[in-house]
Amino acid sequence: MKALLVEKNRVEVVRKQLLESGYLDTRRKLVRRGDQLEVPIKDTALPGSYQFTVIDQDHMEFYESEPGLRELMSSYLDEERLKRLPCGWQIIGRVIIISIHSDLYFVKTQIGSTFLKMYPYCKSVYIDKGIRGDLRKPDRELIAKRDGVISPQETVHTENGCKFKLDVTRVMFSKGNLQERIRMSTLGSGEVVVDMFAGIGYFTIPMVVHSAPKKIIAIEINPESYYYLVENTRLNNGEDIVEPILGDCANNTPVCVADRVIMGYVKRTHYYLANAVLALKPSGVLHYHETVPVHLMPVRPIERIRSAAEEQGREIEVLCWRRVKKYSPGVWHVVVDVRVF
Ligand SMILES: C[S@@+](CC[C@H](N)C(=O)[O-])C[C@H]1O[C@@H](n2cnc3c(N)ncnc32)[C@H](O)[C@@H]1O
Repeated sequence: MKALLVEKNRVEVVRKQLLESGYLDTRRKLVRRGDQLEVPIKDTALPGSYQFTVIDQDHMEFYESEPGLRELMSSYLDEERLKRLPCGWQIIGRVIIISIHSDLYFVKTQIGSTFLKMYPYCKSVYIDKGIRGDLRKPDRELIAKRDGVISPQETVHTENGCKFKLDVTRVMFSKGNLQERIRMSTLGSGEVVVDMFAGIGYFTIPMVVHSAPKKIIAIEINPESYYYLVENTRLNNGEDIVEPILGDCANNTPVCVADRVIMGYVKRTHYYLANAVLALKPSGVLHYHETVPVHLMPVRPIERIRSAAEEQGREIEVLCWRRVKKYSPGVWHVVVDVRVF
């Protein structure tokens, strides 16, 4: 059976990525091999982004199998309904987020308590009903919490050495953006960065923790997200680096100060391109996010950036682009990196 050889300090992130993409073999334990760990994977093909050696394990260690969701719910549901139980879910800190089929609403409380049995370190379970509006606010319903828990909605999610405190009913945390948060954590050392759509610090915090920029001007319009941006800056010891600003980046983005600008927002990002270009010093780098139909990828975002730059008499060099995640059928969330001269 196969495993990836991963350095100890990267195991936490790689394991989480494999779990979320369905490639982790959860029946087997991690096995130590010198300075590295063998992370068990399923025999299905891996996406190219995993840059680790694949080995055939000589020695495997298995977990004792625990009863799964279906088994634990079998006294409440018939065979047909058991098949509709969720196959995947998200764990943010100590909170479990699930989506359930409308046919299963009548047993939502039992589903919630079953999840709490399966994850003893978790404190609450919410049903996810989507994300609403320009402020990307989640719509979530509490279905179970442990006795005595006062704030079932607030938790601290740890990822890649970063702490993100958040209220799961007020702000989003996208598991699909994990790879991009990791990529941002490798950039910005010694630079002045403007994070125009900072949220709770999705990109600001990884940079603070791993790259130590000179300064990050982090702008956020939603007071609830701004509260956690400030809180997360403090939790990750970033007060000397981050200047949080509560407001609209259309009015608060500074001019000609940035070595790097992050536009981590989708759907209406292009409306703010003029501000981003104005913020960049000559040769600064822009990370521009957009939701793009497959047939316009990557031409539309690149042309939008080029046109915004040309309006200010500036030129661009496209450095790279990548898919962040699937957004809807035929539409991808894409990020384009360009240098603006
Ligand atoms: C949700 S984040 C994007 C998600 C993030 N990239 C991730 O990794 O999950 C986008 C943020 O931009 C904020 N926002 C939207 N319009 C804005 C504006 N005009 N100025 C500043 N912030 C804005 C939203 O409130 C939200 O917190």
